[in-house]
Amino acid sequence: MPSPLTPARIKKNLTGQRVALVGGAGFIGHNLALGLRHYGVETLVVDNLMQNNLVDNVSTIDIDSFRRELNHGFLRQRFDMMRDAGVVLRNADARSMTDLAEVLSQFGPTKLVHLSAISSALDARKVPGLCFDLQLITLRNVLEYTRLFPKGVDQVMFVSSSTVYGDFETPTVDESVRPKPYGIYANAKYMGERLVRTYNDQYGLGVTIVRPSALYGERCISRRVSQAFIENALMGKPLLLEGGGDGRLDFTYIEDLVDGMIRAMAAHEGPGTSNTFNLTFGNARTILELANVVKSVVPDAILEDRPRDQIKPVRGTLSTKRAEEVLNFKAQWPLETGYRRYCEWYVDQWERTKRHLQAN
Ligand SMILES: NC(=O)c1ccc[n+]([C@@H]2O[C@H](COP(=O)([O-])OP(=O)(O)OC[C@H]3O[C@@H](n4cnc5c(N)ncnc54)[C@H](O)[C@@H]3O)[C@@H](O)[C@H]2O)c1
Repeated sequence: MPSPLTPARIKKNLTGQRVALVGGAGFIGHNLALGLRHYGVETLVVDNLMQNNLVDNVSTIDIDSFRRELNHGFLRQRFDMMRDAGVVLRNADARSMTDLAEVLSQFGPTKLVHLSAISSALDARKVPGLCFDLQLITLRNVLEYTRLFPKGVDQVMFVSSSTVYGDFETPTVDESVRPKPYGIYANAKYMGERLVRTYNDQYGLGVTIVRPSALYGERCISRRVSQAFIENALMGKPLLLEGGGDGRLDFTYIEDLVDGMIRAMAAHEGPGTSNTFNLTFGNARTILELANVVKSVVPDAILEDRPRDQIKPVRGTLSTKRAEEVLNFKAQWPLETGYRRYCEWYVDQWERTKRHLQAN
């Protein structure tokens, strides 16, 4: 029985590792990069800053100037924090094998994390070809890099998604449940999982697949429900509760996911091994419960019922039992502390941005 993964053991296991994050300047990636630097790991972020990042934020027209400035502040904070922590950032498009291979071979990673995607299933649905390319062409290049330059990389971590499960048929799903993805985003994730396992099976690559769900946290600009609710509360707009807000999601604070991903790197047993982990809080909560946390931070928030959208996916809890057993993982942040902390941070950022714009 290996000794449990304590912080000291994690640091020891990660000594000498060099981790490259492809699509690493996004929400998950920059937080993971900071988490890795905390353990002293040499970390490279590769990103073309295109999708849900700087380029989108300056070029999208359906966003008001206040929120553009707010997002810009979040993005600037990401880059400042990464630079101060010693993360190396390289601007490259991972759809190009030549460009990716060049930055990776200069860095010499021992581990590669694949994150690039259109990270919203709704947005991906509007541009299926781009969704395919950003998820799968980039993944092809990451996997081929490990095959063509076999020395060095002992682990590829693929960031999949809870959407591979499709509609949940039971309140809780574990990793043995057969995926039934629907839509381009979830199917591309599932194809990605299959590709990663094929490189494990055929070429002996060490692989880890992680399935997160409904993340929230500082410096996210994706405007999922957790961000839309706090923003609407601050703009005096109603928080819309379809079917009274009884839909359930396994909301997860970014710090818990980062902890789980780092544990999965520290526990990795080398070439040839393959693991899949749900990495979530491990207890689905209702949209109404989410709204109530917003109301506790912004008491004027308006909660408004709406008829249920019949085509909404049916979701629930992702069991984290496997991650608990193998990685000694235990999520630390329920909504009442994690989401509350995030909402308080958001209010502060909102006020700062207002003051900044007034002063200019
Ligand atoms: N955030 C969530 O709740 C969540 C849940 C489950 C799975 N995921 C998955 O996790 C991954 C990261 O999610 P996120 O929330 O950090 O998304 P994000 O949109 O914040 O980050 C994605 C990053 O990938 C970069 N990118 C896209 N195409 C690229 C390319 N061709 N070359 C280089 N960089 C490129 C983008 O510029 C962006 O910085 C995605 O694969 C997403 O599908 C996210």
